[in-house]
Amino acid sequence: MGASVVAIDGPAGAGKSTVAKRLAVRLNFSYLDTGAMYRSVTLKAMRQGVPLDNEDALAHMAKNTRLDLRGNPQSGLKVFLDGEDVSDEIRTPEVTNQTFYIARAPKVRAVMVELQRAIGSGTDVVIEGRDIGTVVFPEARFKFYLDASVEERAERRFKEFREKGKEIALAQVIEDVRKRDETDFNRSVGPLRKAEDAVVIDSTRMSIDEVVEAMARHVEKQKN
Ligand code: DC
Repeated sequence: MGASVVAIDGPAGAGKSTVAKRLAVRLNFSYLDTGAMYRSVTLKAMRQGVPLDNEDALAHMAKNTRLDLRGNPQSGLKVFLDGEDVSDEIRTPEVTNQTFYIARAPKVRAVMVELQRAIGSGTDVVIEGRDIGTVVFPEARFKFYLDASVEERAERRFKEFREKGKEIALAQVIEDVRKRDETDFNRSVGPLRKAEDAVVIDSTRMSIDEVVEAMARHVEKQKN
């Protein structure tokens, strides 16, 4: 049998990254975090002072960017931007808040999609993002749409902040989650959509282990 792509799409905070990494380990597949690619291009634009509303300049920059996502979910994943390890820097609130500029630019998305197809083709891989099952790999063998209520996603993020010793009001976190949903659902190219043939998993009342188990069972059942 040929290589299999497992596409996992869904809104921010639904638990995609944690689940996708664990599923990859469980299935012995590689793993691709497409959000890290949009984040890296955002970081480069911010550093170089490329105007975030200049689509042509952003696309030109993206085409001339080397992105390497190395390692595996067990030993640790690293993101290299033009050879520099930016794994931590792409997760700062500054980068997170500016990424929608990059994500909404069709010409930049075209560059990202091409790269994602090159990385993912011909290999067993779990790929997470927003448009993987709809745009990047519409022929993916397995598609999941991982959802959770806004309140639950905000609550999880709020707990993460608290664990890191960050003071923030829950109402603010809920507001941020809503804003990210709005930009994800409403961009004209590559918006967040459930693929028609995706299996929907609502993780609101599920543990991470339960979600991974449900996905792995589905894949294993279909593969044999
Ligand atoms: O999953 P994440 O939070 O790391 O994604 C970062 C940003 O990139 C988020 O604003 C949505 C965007 N994104 C996208 O537009 N398409 C993808 N396939 C993955 C992420």
